Amino acid sequence: MCGIVGYVGGKNAQDFLISGLKRLEYRGYDSAGIVTLNAEGKATLVRAKGKISNLEEKLAQNKTSDKIGIGHTRWATHGEPSETNAHPHKAGPLYLVHNGIIENYKELKAELKDFEFKSETDSEVLAALIESFYRDGNYPLVNAVVQALKLVKGTYGIAVISELQPEEIVVARSGSPLVIGVGHDETLIASDASALVGHTKRAIYLNDGEVAVVTAKSIEVKTLNAEPVSAKVEEIETNLAAIQKGGYEHFLLKEIMEQPNTLTETLRGRVNAEQGTVHLGGPGLTEAELRKIQHLVIVGCGTAYHAGLLASYYIEQFVPEITIETVIASEYRYRNAYIPDNSVALIVSQSGETADTLACLREIKKQGVRTVGIVNAIGSTISREVDGGTYVHVGPEISVASTKAFTSQVIAMVIFGLTIAQAKGVRSTMLRPYISEIAKLPEEIAKVLSEAEEQVKAITKKYHELEHAIYLGRDTAYPTAMEGALKLKEISYIDANAYAFGELKHGPLALVDDKYFEIALLPVGELYDKAVSNLQEVLARGGKVIAVTNNDKFDLPVENVVKITTELEIFAPILMNIVLQLFAYYITVAKGLNVDQPRNLAKSVTVE
Ligand code: M6R
Repeated sequence: MCGIVGYVGGKNAQDFLISGLKRLEYRGYDSAGIVTLNAEGKATLVRAKGKISNLEEKLAQNKTSDKIGIGHTRWATHGEPSETNAHPHKAGPLYLVHNGIIENYKELKAELKDFEFKSETDSEVLAALIESFYRDGNYPLVNAVVQALKLVKGTYGIAVISELQPEEIVVARSGSPLVIGVGHDETLIASDASALVGHTKRAIYLNDGEVAVVTAKSIEVKTLNAEPVSAKVEEIETNLAAIQKGGYEHFLLKEIMEQPNTLTETLRGRVNAEQGTVHLGGPGLTEAELRKIQHLVIVGCGTAYHAGLLASYYIEQFVPEITIETVIASEYRYRNAYIPDNSVALIVSQSGETADTLACLREIKKQGVRTVGIVNAIGSTISREVDGGTYVHVGPEISVASTKAFTSQVIAMVIFGLTIAQAKGVRSTMLRPYISEIAKLPEEIAKVLSEAEEQVKAITKKYHELEHAIYLGRDTAYPTAMEGALKLKEISYIDANAYAFGELKHGPLALVDDKYFEIALLPVGELYDKAVSNLQEVLARGGKVIAVTNNDKFDLPVENVVKITTELEIFAPILMNIVLQLFAYYITVAKGLNVDQPRNLAKSVTVE
């Protein structure tokens, strides 16, 4: 939620700030702004409602050669998207950009009686509070920032500059990510390392409760209690190709198409199909500890939650005597739920920054439960705070809709389940089919991508004007249907819901009419015939059905069918999900909507 950038060095600050904001635009895109200072401290502040491109247009009339500045792309929390509510916020000689939420802003605002507030934002209150300590210019900026932050309740990643000290940026974080790029005679700031790629390969990830003063040549990190921190400089692994569209029209299509490769990265060194074994080092659990596990709690939001749900269906199939509860983080954090002994919690998050998931992780740790991260973003807060974990290694996921992360999250969790099963002595004949299908999955995904794309494109043209969709599946196809429905609704704005096939007759069947279309997932397997019977109930009521199946003999009188050919049976729903991703993508393209940046959403949700 919101992206912040900063630059101090020998180059034109506006250039980095605008390119950095473009890379962070996925984090928020309702308004943006930049302020730079010249050597005398004269400020040039430019803000615009809407996309970064609007800001860029305004900047063309306000070009500077200033060497220091900060910028922001916003996802509105307090106050509508407007130029006045856009960051940077000015307070006296100070300018501030903020990512997060100041929960006690009303109380703080009431105290700042002599400040003339212009915006409705909580962030401007923080700017005014810092300025109240900084006033007269005889207080070092960092001290004023620290004094103010000690009064703040909530979350923040901030960057502050002052007209009176035009050679330094003060940054701080608590609950919202902040990375400092270490360059040659320049220092860069960003909410995530993708903005730094191509500028530097070295970065310091600030921890919660830390504040830093950065100049072109120095970075000084301290805690809010003024204790010096010897910050670790880490290597940024992402390369430029990973954050570009690579010839695709949209990041979403690129990310869907990348899945054979990204899943291969997830599997690397973890699956030995010949021996029929799996190995996961990251969780850091001994064989004895794995053997003792009796209960798994899987925590996530949105797509990560669906990945957990689907993985739980699989793990239950082959790990004996285990209970699995997959929970929505925003609910679970307040449930006061009892977690029994011998439990492990899997914390699932692409970004590793989702506020609700992070809050659950912290609650769960308080109970002394072992936590294992299933995370994509390397160095993210969740990946740092879990007891152990496994990265899914799918590279940057930029489109707001999560696709490649889902596939790899599911499989990473299934592999974790398989390591438990191995430790518990489950017969290898039981586990082999799973392992052998997992090993073949990247290739099978590639096959489905090439086989299904044209079929899907042709179909979407018929449905993009309808406003309601129902996704249906049983067993592992049910969480798959949930994920498919989420993908469709978040990017195409079609009201899509998923139901377990067996639940239809308990209510949702009443919805079937000509304003709806139904997507029926029909993987070959034990429950195939039952799902087909449920589907007949829809067809008998005139449902406009699109069937997705791997049964090459499928011949029910549905409006459309997408057939996939695969030798996989267990993981056919994963392949069907690829079809659903393509379906959501092409419907959205047909509707002419913004595929990568759907309205009202942001990629990483760092506010509650
Ligand atoms: O970064 P996370 O995996 O923690 O994000 C969780 C959800 O916000 C995310 O999956 C969201 O639902 C996606 N936009 C779905 O495509």
